[in-house]
Amino acid sequence: MGSFDAIVSLCKQRGFVFQSSEIYGGIGGFWDYGPLGVELKNNIKRSWWRRVVQMRDDVVGLDAAIIMNPQTWVASGHVEEFTDPLVDCKQCKKRFRADAIVNNTCPDCGAVGQFTDVRKFNLMFKTYVGPVEESAALTYLRPETAQGIFVNFQNVLIAMRKKLPFGIAQIGKAFRNEITPGDFIFRDREFEQMEIEYFVKPGTDEQWHHHWVEERLRWYIEDLGLRKERIRARALPKEDLAHYSKATFEIEYDFPGKGWAEIEGIANRTDYDLKRHSQYSGKDLTYFDEETKEHYIPYVIEPSCGVDRIFLAVLLDAYHEEEVRGEKRVVLKLKPQLAPIKVAVFPLLRNRPELVRKAKEIANALRKDFTVWYDDTAAIGRLYRRQDEIGTPYCITVDVQSLTDNAVTIRDRDTMLQERVPIERVAAVLKEKLAEC
Ligand code: GAP
Repeated sequence: MGSFDAIVSLCKQRGFVFQSSEIYGGIGGFWDYGPLGVELKNNIKRSWWRRVVQMRDDVVGLDAAIIMNPQTWVASGHVEEFTDPLVDCKQCKKRFRADAIVNNTCPDCGAVGQFTDVRKFNLMFKTYVGPVEESAALTYLRPETAQGIFVNFQNVLIAMRKKLPFGIAQIGKAFRNEITPGDFIFRDREFEQMEIEYFVKPGTDEQWHHHWVEERLRWYIEDLGLRKERIRARALPKEDLAHYSKATFEIEYDFPGKGWAEIEGIANRTDYDLKRHSQYSGKDLTYFDEETKEHYIPYVIEPSCGVDRIFLAVLLDAYHEEEVRGEKRVVLKLKPQLAPIKVAVFPLLRNRPELVRKAKEIANALRKDFTVWYDDTAAIGRLYRRQDEIGTPYCITVDVQSLTDNAVTIRDRDTMLQERVPIERVAAVLKEKLAEC
């Protein structure tokens, strides 16, 4: 288990996450994913998509636009309701979420009782469509991907001839002008969501709600490999529910140094959104149930998670420090499917051109099946440690004997055991090993 500090440092040093526009001093709540980060992030998204779209016949995908007709956000309730309570400290002029103030004391300058009255602050980023900055052109960057799904409910229903229950899944960016972004990539102003709107017959919603809580917990444990004891589902008390929710379970991860915090919300949104869009658009968004011959607006169960928070949980969970022969070894025990690099290839001796040539040949041959890293910039022990630190499950070493026996060693990240494998069998052996994990 890693600490926040260890992970923040690893992310920067090894190219997982950088501060956005760092050379200009950065910008609060925005982050860039580096060469390894983008691989890990894509692997998390692929794993989710595989489980909730590819492996199910009742969920289809969608990729809707980030900017939508602004009426969407009036109908959804976000213009009215998507606010945080905000106060200013009169002493230091800093701004805080009112619920973050303890004992009436400013968290920044320590002044007591120096706050302005609480105001409502809308978290949506505003923008203008077209060349004129006037109110008629005002719209918003979406604060959740969900609304792109609701407004496409009828399109998908008709085009895909779906029957209830069925879901629409989407991965995409969302934007919130958070008052206090922080905890590294935990609370951002730009982040990525993976959301499903699962449409069901009213009356079956509670049963489907429980189904999705169980199913989503299984994904975290079975597919992402998060430790069971660090993940839980918690029913939210009524006073904490969002304006659209009848009941919500949060899936929480026990972040070191921070404690239990939300990585996913699974809400019963009832018929709230489709009803509101129907009212505001004047379009019929009912479903015709052929069995009962009734028209009704479906209820919706919404499993909604944040890629960035899951990315952070995966790294913290995978981080290990061990002692090997008197030296510290840092190793990311990522599920091999999530590892940014699947296999690294090294020549044992970098000053032997024939070993370098052979190692490069092997690396190039493996590229069509795996993400591969070739390296000859340090001694072999150092090269192994570097790969351990970024979670590469297998390392291949080409040694002098390889030139005569046409075999190489494959080293396992977790056990550090090595086995000798004929070069012609390397790709097949790696495929078998990765399929087993
Ligand atoms: N459509 C429902 C919805 O957006 P939410 O609980 O506000 O619900 C869902 O957000 C998930 O999105 C959260 O569980 C979290 O993982 C992620 N998320 C929300 N705000 C975030 C932020 N400011 N930074 C990073 N992730 C965030």
